[in-house]
Amino acid sequence: MNPVHETLADAAQSALFTDIAADIRQQGYSVQRDAVPVRLSSGLLYRLANMDTDEFQRAGTGRLQDHQLNAFVRRDRIHWLTNDNPHEQSWLTFAYNLQQFLNRELFLGLFSYECHFAHYRPGDFYKKHQDAFKGQANRILTTVLYLNPDWQTRHHGELVMYHGHGEQPELTRVLPRFGTLVVFLSEEFPHEVLAAERDRYSIAGWYRLNSSHYLRSDPPA
Ligand code: OGA
Ligand code: MN
Repeated sequence: MNPVHETLADAAQSALFTDIAADIRQQGYSVQRDAVPVRLSSGLLYRLANMDTDEFQRAGTGRLQDHQLNAFVRRDRIHWLTNDNPHEQSWLTFAYNLQQFLNRELFLGLFSYECHFAHYRPGDFYKKHQDAFKGQANRILTTVLYLNPDWQTRHHGELVMYHGHGEQPELTRVLPRFGTLVVFLSEEFPHEVLAAERDRYSIAGWYRLNSSHYLRSDPPA
């Protein structure tokens, strides 16, 4: 990139990070359309297009190993991102930059980030769940980046966020449009993924606290 473009890209990124931090502070969540640089999101799309189906595994829920029970809760297939692939690495770097920014702005003490691609086939879903529970949580902040070009309302597949744990919570619905990024406090927002008419791709990720102590290193050494 030439220096002018680079400066513009940096400015766009700090504007985005500033918006996310303000939203998290005010309401605990943020929904950003066209959030990430197209170079990054299209690289991730390219990566997805060149992956074999056997590089995706059936997703589990916590320590639950019962596949039938799991299939009742969630149907997506996942692939964890690593630094071994350059496109995956670009996303991990972006997430790391956001981590540093949020730690500076909000003193969240985010320590690490883990994330996976998720593929929901038509009709697949993930029932209402929480990514973390008060008291035992080391997942602090959830991110979801959507990678579905030309997604229309009629394709459904919304992320539905429940505001709080009450009987009739307010809902926020997000279409999984290409480049939309959702960030929310993991303990505060139960959420679900509705079935879609099309294949639906995303990267779901979590920032964690460092919960190491003298008996247990986390993540395991
Ligand atoms: C998850 C999740 C949301 C989405 O993987 O825990 O809630 O919209 N994903 O893909
Ligand atoms: Mn979730």
